[in-house]
Amino acid sequence: MASMNINIVLISFFLLFLLNVSPILAQTNPIDRCWRKYPRWASNRQKLATCSIGFAGRMTGNIGRGLQRYTVTNPSDDPISPKKGTLRYGATILQGKVWIDFQGDMLISLKSVLLIKSYTTIDGRGAKVEIAHGSGFMLKKANDVIIHGMHFHDIAPHSSGRNIMGASGNLVRLGKVDGDAVRMVGCSKIWIDHNKFYKSEDGLVDVTLESTNITISNNWFLDHDKVMLLGHDDKFFLDRKMKVTVAFNRFGPNTNQRCPRVRYGYAHVVNNLYDGWGIYAIGGSMNPKIRSEGNLFIASKSGNKEVTWRGGVSKNGGRKWNWRSIDDKFINGAFFDVTGRGVEKPNYNRDQKFQVGKADQVRALTKDAGALKCSTRSKYC
Ligand SMILES: *[C@@H]1O[C@H](CO)[C@@H](O)[C@H](O)[C@H]1NC(C)=O
Repeated sequence: MASMNINIVLISFFLLFLLNVSPILAQTNPIDRCWRKYPRWASNRQKLATCSIGFAGRMTGNIGRGLQRYTVTNPSDDPISPKKGTLRYGATILQGKVWIDFQGDMLISLKSVLLIKSYTTIDGRGAKVEIAHGSGFMLKKANDVIIHGMHFHDIAPHSSGRNIMGASGNLVRLGKVDGDAVRMVGCSKIWIDHNKFYKSEDGLVDVTLESTNITISNNWFLDHDKVMLLGHDDKFFLDRKMKVTVAFNRFGPNTNQRCPRVRYGYAHVVNNLYDGWGIYAIGGSMNPKIRSEGNLFIASKSGNKEVTWRGGVSKNGGRKWNWRSIDDKFINGAFFDVTGRGVEKPNYNRDQKFQVGKADQVRALTKDAGALKCSTRSKYC
């Protein structure tokens, strides 16, 4: 019996060898499995775009005909006339489909928000790229943007009422900006994957003003108060159309609230690891739809045990809001206050659909959340 098992193991490894796929990835999530199983990842960076799931769908608009590749070689920043070699030049001046990578490890302190244009991919794989001690990213009426493999921390509000280089390569006047790490305004089809976010002043990821078709996956959020906002404010009812997938992320330790906070729209919160929270994990106001599925909620010793929070209503209000918990797992007394009559399925199409894992698998599914460490010389990422 034992020798038969050994034979099966040997045969499987031989088959993996023949297929030239990585044997390490048996237990991972469908996004990573899609591209990390192939060798020579650094010569096939664009494969990543075909691996997104959830409401953003596959990001195939970011690759193919006309794609320009651009490597950031210079960490400095000039918001008014960006120099060639800097991140701002690649994200604003270059037009069309642009795939941006980085020559090596670098710390980029943005002097004003970076306005990223449509069809741009920012791919931090192969280097440690920190966006820190300055402004964050802003996506304004942009579509088809991928942000992958970056480290965002110590982001603070900067410079309002100034001209900066806009996403069309023209100067634009900037109004008041909050200190968000990544802020989306009126965007669609945006994929935020495998980034590490911590210790910033305002939100880490904010989805606002009629943004929709967004996937936020494989990120690690920690050491922060207000983590993720989906929906602009309680008056902005057009966010009813907002659809966001929040999958395979790791929240905590030391996240206080908003993982996420949802207004009006629909959030599919699936297979995330919650490593404690202070006030709450998932909350919202204005009757949003929340489908929480296959998450692992571990309450901290000191924080609240309740996962959920309902805003803008009296103590026992919001009882009709459709907030569902499906196959979630609760540890240390954590509990989810279910309300309403149920939440419809996300009804993903072929490009959005993915296999939802069991809550028991969440540790494995999220074990590489955050920016991956992979060398361009290593075979697998
Ligand atoms: C969102 O995605 C769906 C499915 O791909 C598409 O039909 C819809 O037009 C998208 N909405 C926006 C505003 O882009």
